[in-house]
Amino acid sequence: MSLARRTIDAFLGLLFPWNFLLVSATCLPKTILRLLRERKFAELLSPSRLKEAWFSDLWGGIAGPNIRRDAAVRIIPLLQGRATKGAVVDEQVSPGLAGTVIEVGAGSGLWVDMYSEIAEVRAGSGLWVDMYSEIAEVRAEPDGAARRRKVGSSAAVDGPITRVYGIEPNVNQHPALRRAIAKAGLEDVYRIVPVGIEDLDDATKWDGVVEKGSVDCIVSILCLCSIPDPEKNIRELYQYLKKGGRWYIYEHVRCNNSWYMKAYQRLLNVFWPHFIGGCLLCRQTEKTLREAGSWEKIDVAQPVTEPWYQVVPHRLGVFTK
Ligand SMILES: C[S@@+](CC[C@H](N)C(=O)[O-])C[C@H]1O[C@@H](n2cnc3c(N)ncnc32)[C@H](O)[C@@H]1O
Ligand SMILES: *[C@@H]1O[C@H](CO)[C@@H](O)[C@H](O)[C@H]1NC(C)=O
Repeated sequence: MSLARRTIDAFLGLLFPWNFLLVSATCLPKTILRLLRERKFAELLSPSRLKEAWFSDLWGGIAGPNIRRDAAVRIIPLLQGRATKGAVVDEQVSPGLAGTVIEVGAGSGLWVDMYSEIAEVRAGSGLWVDMYSEIAEVRAEPDGAARRRKVGSSAAVDGPITRVYGIEPNVNQHPALRRAIAKAGLEDVYRIVPVGIEDLDDATKWDGVVEKGSVDCIVSILCLCSIPDPEKNIRELYQYLKKGGRWYIYEHVRCNNSWYMKAYQRLLNVFWPHFIGGCLLCRQTEKTLREAGSWEKIDVAQPVTEPWYQVVPHRLGVFTK
């Protein structure tokens, strides 16, 4: 790549998050108008509830589907056990999603159809392949066709998924989440837990029980940035996992490369949480997870495709208890 091209890419990459804030800002008037139209005055008058409604519109409307389009090429293989050292590989290298699953911060149900695919159809037919071909086209991967065939024939999963608890305290997201569950035909498998993870074991807050030590897998996709008291709550979630259980993450974390990227990220973080539903950029989520308890194996890294100017750098991979 030429120097000019690289400079332009870096420049656009550094500006991109501000554009995201702008997109979010233009969403707010629409949310206010919607709440007025629906006569939801209580929500308009409560800053915290207005923020939740706003974030729900932003994520369900434009941000979520865009992120899905970009991140599915990593997240789908991750859950199939085909990600290692931050890279996607063709062969399965670790167990895929199975058994009893907790999805933390399920949001509008962006990823729900992945479970139905594993639960029923299994890899190698239907949706995985369809989704993959859609992505391959969008991204115009040169080896898209070959990769598609591989996904179809060799990716084993360790299903079935017997139960998913989708934890989502923002009730504004529940209608979309419920639609996604119905569309995926998962009414009997996927249960919405309408509280934050801090209240998962509080029988007074919701009418279900999840026993500690009973969960096979935890999935957290872009949500540990938004939960309260991460040290405490991640340690708490760790206890729900069985021995041998797996925690799949795709989360963004604090910059740890250069001083100027750290400073730039910190500046962005002054505005970011107010526009993006309380999401904090400078959390050390990987470190917090490492320290949540003892792990048998950790295969987590920054996606190899991310450049030095990534203001929202991710961690991708699996912790095995
Ligand atoms: C950035 S969104 C991501 C949603 C979804 N995982 C996705 O990728 O589309 C973060 C989600 O975490 C949820 N969240 C906030 N506080 C939470 C808590 N205490 N426990 C569980 N989820 C929480 C928010 O309501 C929001 O839906
Ligand atoms: C940043 O963090 C990752 C993951 O913890 C680590 O592997 C890497 O060496 C760190 N980079 C720097 C420059 O410290």
